[in-house]
Amino acid sequence: MTSDSTPRRTNPVGGALDLRAALIERIGGYMSAHAIGVAAELGLADLIGSGSRTSEELASDTQAHEPSLRRLLRLLVSDGIMTEPRPGQFTLTEIGSQLRADSPGSLQNFARMFTDPLFLTSWQGLRHTVTSGERAFDHAYGSGVYAYLAGHPETSALFNEAMSEESRHSAAQLAAEFDFPDSGTLIDLGGGDGTLLTAILRSRPGLRGVVFDSASGVAEAPATLRKAGLADRCEVQAGDFFESVPGGGDLYLIKSVFQDWGDDESRAILRTCRAHMPESATLLIVGSVLPETADTSTPVMFLTDANMMVTTGGRERTESEFRAMLEETGFTVRSVGDRDAGPLSVIQAVPAVAS
Ligand SMILES: C[S@@+](CC[C@H](N)C(=O)[O-])C[C@H]1O[C@@H](n2cnc3c(N)ncnc32)[C@H](O)[C@@H]1O
Repeated sequence: MTSDSTPRRTNPVGGALDLRAALIERIGGYMSAHAIGVAAELGLADLIGSGSRTSEELASDTQAHEPSLRRLLRLLVSDGIMTEPRPGQFTLTEIGSQLRADSPGSLQNFARMFTDPLFLTSWQGLRHTVTSGERAFDHAYGSGVYAYLAGHPETSALFNEAMSEESRHSAAQLAAEFDFPDSGTLIDLGGGDGTLLTAILRSRPGLRGVVFDSASGVAEAPATLRKAGLADRCEVQAGDFFESVPGGGDLYLIKSVFQDWGDDESRAILRTCRAHMPESATLLIVGSVLPETADTSTPVMFLTDANMMVTTGGRERTESEFRAMLEETGFTVRSVGDRDAGPLSVIQAVPAVAS
């Protein structure tokens, strides 16, 4: 097996055994997820890097119980995250390399966040959600996700890091799909720690920016902008997009936000945007656009959709659902990006002109 080979997912024998193995693997999906989360927590990918390490070395570096760690590593091998070229020696596959903190598309914090007890406990309440329609997260924790994060700075910092990992990666796709202007003001609503705006402003020296998010959401934004040397071109504003958003922008970007909210709340956010943005401004919604019927081509979107159902009460949407929501809240849709171009689509809308 080379380090890049696609993991074998099912028993090669064929027939009924194959089908049973295929389902058992899926039933055990939470075990695999947990194994990846522990690998991320222990920093195993950083320790292995581009070389190879033995389970003894890794156990000594992480103060782990070697026989148990070795079994964890072998599970990760069976899942295509690592290889075991010689007994007890481990290297990363291309997929597993994304758990390294220095990987350009690192998912280390993403893996930690989504296997954190916060999410695992919520998912244990899936049945509650499916039978009652209520958010399992609120049922378990007594408040919504963002209210919880506001009171738990450490988890909030991990959440913001996980989001910014995703944004760092998608910034390139976004820059390729949308030709940002080199002047005016771009306002990133729910912009978190400013990672996405930083990437855009770096490529557009004449553009100014505003990162807008809740107080806990923007907590790390000033440091991100300072580090990028952009503090003089970008403001940070804390606020609540149900109440108001900054006025005077030319472009309003809102990425991976509507998935967090149900239809009523999403319409409320859009109405706030409509009320505060100039008539000449453009709204750019960036996120997943679900296919009209489910298929196996985009499992990540359906995972996110179900995760939102359980945790935030939000949902992913189809193009027709986005169009209806925008039209109801006073926008005209200019374009919807090609769903095949990547996991994120850009929807451009402008304030509708009253006729
Ligand atoms: C899923 S994250 C997306 C972050 C960022 N746009 C990205 O794509 O990485 C949603 C963001 O919405 C922010 N948010 C939640 N409720 C908010 C509110 N009432 N007002 C402003 N921002 C809010 C969160 O703090 C969080 O940063």
